[in-house]
Amino acid sequence: MSQQFALPQTPFYVYSQSIIQHQCQRLKRVVLPDVSTVLYSLKANPNPALVKTIVGQGMGCDVSSAFELDVALSSGVDSKNIGCVGPYKSTRLLTMCLKNNIAFVAVESAGELVELAALREQYQSDTAILLRLNPDIDISGGSMKMGGAASQFGIAESELEDILSLAKASQIHIHGVHVYATTRVLDPDSFLANFSALCDYLAALPERFGFNMEWLNVGGGFGIPYYRGEQPLSIETIQEELLNLQHSLVTRTGVSRLFFESGRFLVGEAGKAVVQVKSIKQSMNKTYAICDGGYNLFHGATAFANLMRKPYFISKVGQENLNFLSELPLPERDINGKVYTLVGPLCTPSDIIADKYVSEPLSVGDYLVIHQVGAYAITSSPGLFIGHGFPAEYMTTALGIVQIGKQDSIEEMKRRYIIEVEKENHKTDTYTQIEVI
Ligand SMILES: Cc1ncc(COP(=O)(O)O)c(C=O)c1O
Repeated sequence: MSQQFALPQTPFYVYSQSIIQHQCQRLKRVVLPDVSTVLYSLKANPNPALVKTIVGQGMGCDVSSAFELDVALSSGVDSKNIGCVGPYKSTRLLTMCLKNNIAFVAVESAGELVELAALREQYQSDTAILLRLNPDIDISGGSMKMGGAASQFGIAESELEDILSLAKASQIHIHGVHVYATTRVLDPDSFLANFSALCDYLAALPERFGFNMEWLNVGGGFGIPYYRGEQPLSIETIQEELLNLQHSLVTRTGVSRLFFESGRFLVGEAGKAVVQVKSIKQSMNKTYAICDGGYNLFHGATAFANLMRKPYFISKVGQENLNFLSELPLPERDINGKVYTLVGPLCTPSDIIADKYVSEPLSVGDYLVIHQVGAYAITSSPGLFIGHGFPAEYMTTALGIVQIGKQDSIEEMKRRYIIEVEKENHKTDTYTQIEVI
């Protein structure tokens, strides 16, 4: 693509639409045609332009809030390819799910089951009810285990019988179960071992607990590398076995639909944050490069890197264009250079982008690209901290560059604290007034 576009003011995000589309196609090839649906987990990044891109590739949506459901519905996705999962679902969210007849809601407690069943009746909805389980199985290889131990997620096996009895007594039909056991798995063997254990577990459920299943949500866990030294998950190597396991699960259980959920695999690698070095200073034995964006931009994605001082993928670039930046490959190897502590603009010592970033000499005005931050970054960051506001977002597409999110202005940030008052017969906006004694 040859379109040139002067770099916008930093800090900003840039996403590559073609990388997202490519990731969707890769994932589609490992799920069973006509039976399995991949749902994009909007929690990773709810930007409507990304959601529309993903839905355009035939994916469904996994939502956890009324806003996410609103974005999903506006993307044009078939409501029968939307699922709702999350440890807290407001009555407003449940009502929206039912009024729009989405495919399923995965309930996570007895109270939620009763509320959902009553609303379902009230709105005459055909949205299916799944039970999200906290399964007692051995899971390994992920960065976050979300099952098999006490947790706010899902229903523990020890509680399952009571919930099934409650459903039976209240004539609530359970359509199947949902399990999300782990996330960010990179090792193909671990992925297959986990999935195989999950299939055995699911196939045994009807006999163990005496209920039928029509649909199953088998979760996901497809990872992407965040730190130097990590290898990407090669889903191509697990494709055949994963398809066989799904086929066998369907044969064993007789279910007609399988759902997968995926967030970071679809958008994580497509997103890059671009910051500029604004000052370089020496403090005792350390050289600090102070940038105009830090964990106020990508806290969610780099939190663990900060905590564990892991080497995140960062590239130094000259004044390049957005297309170049959005397709910039991961820096391949360490270089011999100068060691910098890269920090952001926040007034907290924890705003560290990289503790020991080795680079050719940095100068004020240099651009730095933080890779792999398309997921759990912009919306899981303290964007309003110190009043910097959330940054602009751009997407490079085959039809050109589109701005898909804007930098908060001071006016927009003020809006939260502004009320309308009547003054000299007309209304004016002002900060909320309080009495101070
Ligand atoms: C229930 C559920 N579904 C889907 C996801 C998406 O995970 P990922 O972005 O790693 O694919 C998560 C992430 O924590 C989750 O908790």
